[in-house]
Amino acid sequence: MEKKQPIGIIGAMGVEVRALIDQMEESGQDRFAGLVFHWGSLAGVPCVIAQCGEGKVNAAVCAQTMILKYAPRLVINVGVAGGVGVSIGGLVVASACVQHDFDATPMGYPLGNLFLYWDEGEPEERVELPADGAAAAVLLEEAQSIYGGACSGVIATGDQFVADKEKNRWLGETFGAKAVEMEGGSIAQVCYMNRVPFAVLRAISDNANDESPADFPAFTQECADKTARLLTRALGRL
Ligand code: ADE
Repeated sequence: MEKKQPIGIIGAMGVEVRALIDQMEESGQDRFAGLVFHWGSLAGVPCVIAQCGEGKVNAAVCAQTMILKYAPRLVINVGVAGGVGVSIGGLVVASACVQHDFDATPMGYPLGNLFLYWDEGEPEERVELPADGAAAAVLLEEAQSIYGGACSGVIATGDQFVADKEKNRWLGETFGAKAVEMEGGSIAQVCYMNRVPFAVLRAISDNANDESPADFPAFTQECADKTARLLTRALGRL
């Protein structure tokens, strides 16, 4: 892939992308669908950065627009997540993404089974969408060198803030998830459909349990800063 093509960076909330935008040598901004796309160079690497807003539809609109308008060679989703067996402050790099709320089980499909159409043929059916292995490896190595490590695993996405320990346990059992959030799986699907590699990097802001309403606001800033620092370090190798 041509290295002049930018790396696309998407975060849901301002706090998840602000530090990156602030460090960027910005060449310009565009507005599409109410979203602002900042383009320029970050750590010497051509990048386009956008805040997509929470949830799967916002994330999909942002990812598809970014792909069509800027042709990124890699799209990275950064931010915070609820931990599934990973403690607050821990880092998770997606090996794959799933959409835990996509449910055609009454029709006999496994939970999370997506339907991916190619050229009007029969759909490809899959639950897990694999993240780019090379990008994930770089993020894991950089995490090792500055934070003493990160966990690699499935990240589960749904249009739901999870604050329930039973649901948390279920996410681990059903999908082997290590983290739950609201955008990664949607960005993964858009990238997969466009054959654009993707990565998801999340820091754990809460345990996706009844303490989440208090933990999330308490730890989000610190966690978002952690992912921004790691991503900035990794960019030159991506
Ligand atoms: N993002 C951060 N914490 C989350 C949670 N508990 N559920 C969904 N998304 C999150």
